[in-house]
Amino acid sequence: MKLFALRPFAALIPLVVLLVAHATLAIAQSSPAAPPAAPIVITGADKRPALSLNGDWHVIPDPYQTGLYDFHKHEIARGWFVNQKAKPGDTGPVDYDFSKAETIKVPGDWNTQKPEFFWYEGLMWYEKDFDFEPKAHTRTFLRVGAANYKSIFWVNGQKVCEHVGGFTAFNCDVTAAVHAGGNFVIAVVDNTRHEDGVPTTQTDWFNYGGLTREVSLITVPETFIDQYDLHLSRADHRRVEGWVHVVGGHAGETVSVEISEAGAKSEAKIGEDGRAALQIGGPGLTLWTPETPKLYKVSVKAGADSIEDEIGFRTIEVRGTEILLNGKPIFLRGVCIHAEAPYRTGRAYSDKDAETLLGWAKEMGANYVRLAHYPHDETMLRAADRMGILVWAENPVYWAVQFEKPEVYANAENQLREEIETSRNHAAIILWSMANETPINDARTKFISSLAARARELDPTRLITAALLVHTDKNGERSTKVVDDPLGQYLDVLGTNEYIGWYEQHPETADITDWKISYNKPLIMSEFGADAKAGLHGGPNDRWTEEYQANVFRHQLGMLNRIGQLRGMSPWVLMDFRSPRRPLAGIQDDFNRKGLVSDQGVKKQAFFVLQKAYTEKTVGKAD
Ligand code: GCU
Repeated sequence: MKLFALRPFAALIPLVVLLVAHATLAIAQSSPAAPPAAPIVITGADKRPALSLNGDWHVIPDPYQTGLYDFHKHEIARGWFVNQKAKPGDTGPVDYDFSKAETIKVPGDWNTQKPEFFWYEGLMWYEKDFDFEPKAHTRTFLRVGAANYKSIFWVNGQKVCEHVGGFTAFNCDVTAAVHAGGNFVIAVVDNTRHEDGVPTTQTDWFNYGGLTREVSLITVPETFIDQYDLHLSRADHRRVEGWVHVVGGHAGETVSVEISEAGAKSEAKIGEDGRAALQIGGPGLTLWTPETPKLYKVSVKAGADSIEDEIGFRTIEVRGTEILLNGKPIFLRGVCIHAEAPYRTGRAYSDKDAETLLGWAKEMGANYVRLAHYPHDETMLRAADRMGILVWAENPVYWAVQFEKPEVYANAENQLREEIETSRNHAAIILWSMANETPINDARTKFISSLAARARELDPTRLITAALLVHTDKNGERSTKVVDDPLGQYLDVLGTNEYIGWYEQHPETADITDWKISYNKPLIMSEFGADAKAGLHGGPNDRWTEEYQANVFRHQLGMLNRIGQLRGMSPWVLMDFRSPRRPLAGIQDDFNRKGLVSDQGVKKQAFFVLQKAYTEKTVGKAD
C-alpha cells in the first residue's frame, strides 16, 4: 500500500507512535527485566586478582520479608534493593536506610556477631558501597565464597543473580551493572530451613546464616578461562593430563599450560565446545603425598587471560579392598571436622581457622580428614594441600532429604556440581561423598546413585563414597554389624557410621562385635565416638566424662583392627561444635561434645588415646 494513501490519517501518526511507545514501556515495567544470568563457577577464582568487599556491611534483619513482599503494595518495586535511601519524589515514608543501619563483618555468620542475631533464622539484608573503575574489553564478576542458604544480589539496584545452597562458591556477572566511581551492592540472604531443602530442616549442626565466606569483585578479559582440570595420569605417573575451558573462546585458538619448575609445558587447540584437552610430559614431577605435599606453580593461559594456580600431582584409585595413593596401598588415619571456628566459634572461614583445625589433626597423627557434612571453604582445602592432609569432601545430602522430589534432586546435583567444579584441582581431595546417614529406600538409592553417576562424569579421577547406616544382628553372645546397604554397589569406597558404646550398647560391646560386609570394597569407619565435657572426670563408665570417651575409643580401636577390609577411619569429631539439638545444660549447652578437643582448644583424654594409635600405627594395616 503506497504511503501517500495514508495522508488523510497523517494527523493520527504522532498519536499512534505515542501509543506504541507507551505500550512497550508498560510491558517493560509490568514484565520484570530479563532474569539475570545464572551464577557460574570459576575454577581457581580465589587465585585471581580481586577487589575485596570483605569488611563491614550494613545489615537489616527482615523477619517479615518486607523488603521482598509488601502486602499493600502487591509489588516488589519498592523492594529494599533499589536504593539505599528514599528516592526523590517519594511520597510515602521509606522504612529503611542502610547508611543508618548497624554493621557486621563479612565474611562471617550473623549469629555469632550480635547476641540478638544468635537464634535468628530468616532474611537478612546486606549493603556495601564500593568504588570501581571498569576496564574496556573485560567482564567483572561478584565472587561469593558462600551465602547460607538462599541469596539474591543487586548491584546499583540491578539484579545480578540468585543462588541456592549455603556451602559452595558462585560468581555473578556484574559487568552491565557496575560503573565508574561509586557503586553499591545489596544482598538478601535467607537461612530459613526448608523441608525440601538440601540439607533439610533437621541437622546436627548450627544453621549459621549470612555471607559466611569471602566476597570480592574479579575482573577477567572478555574471553576468559572459567574452568580447568589438571591431574596426574593413572596410567603414567610421568604425565599430567586434563583440559581447559575458555568462555568466548573460538575453535582453533590456543591454550597453554606450564609447570615451569618441572620444565613442562604444553599447548592445545580449543574445540567447538571451548575446551582444549592437554597432555603434559612431566618426567621429573615429585608426587604429592601426606609426607611430601609438593605443590607446583601452574600457569594456564588462553588469549589475554592467564591464571597462576598451585597444584599437587598424585593419583588415587581402588584395587579390590585397597585404596592406592600413587599406586601404593594407604591407610587413612583421620578425624571428622565441622567448619566451626576454634575458640571464637561460628562458621569457620579463615586461613587461621583452617591451620588450627588441621594442625590439631596433624598433631594427632592424622593423614586424612572427613570434612563434614557440606563443602568446606577453599581456604581449608588449600591448607590441606599445603599440609599434606587427604580429604573426604561431602555434599550436604544429610538424613531425611525429600528424595522423591525432582527439584530436590536438581538442587543437590547443582550443589555437587559447584563443589566439584570449584575444588577439582586440590590434590588433597581424594573422595567425593554423596551423602550422610540416609534412610534405605528406593527413592533415596535412585537419588544418590544418580548423584554418584554425575560425580563420575564431572570428575572420573577421584573415588566416590557415602556414609552409610549399618544394622546389627545378634548371634548369641556376639553382635554383628552388617553392611549391605544397596547404595554400596554404586560406591568405590564404603563409609559406615556406628556409635557402639554411646547411642547403642556399651563401650566394651565393641570387643564382641564382628562386621559382615557385602561388598569387596575398601571400608572407612566414617564415624564413631562419644560425648565428653572437657574437664569432666569420673570412671570409665561415667557418661559425659573424658574417661568414658577414652574408654569408648580404646574398645573401638580393638574392634577396628579386626575388620579385614578397613582402610580408614574418621572418628566423630575433632572439635566440639554448636548444635541446637544439644541443650543439656552444664554439659552440652548447645554444643555437640563429641570433640576430641573442646571448642576452646582443650585436648581431651581420647585425643591422646587416638594420637598414640596413629603415631605408633597400631591401628589399621601398615602402609
Ligand atoms: C551422626 C551424624 C552427625 C552427628 C553425630 C552425633 O551420625 O552424622 O552429624 O553429629 O552422629 O550424633 O553426634
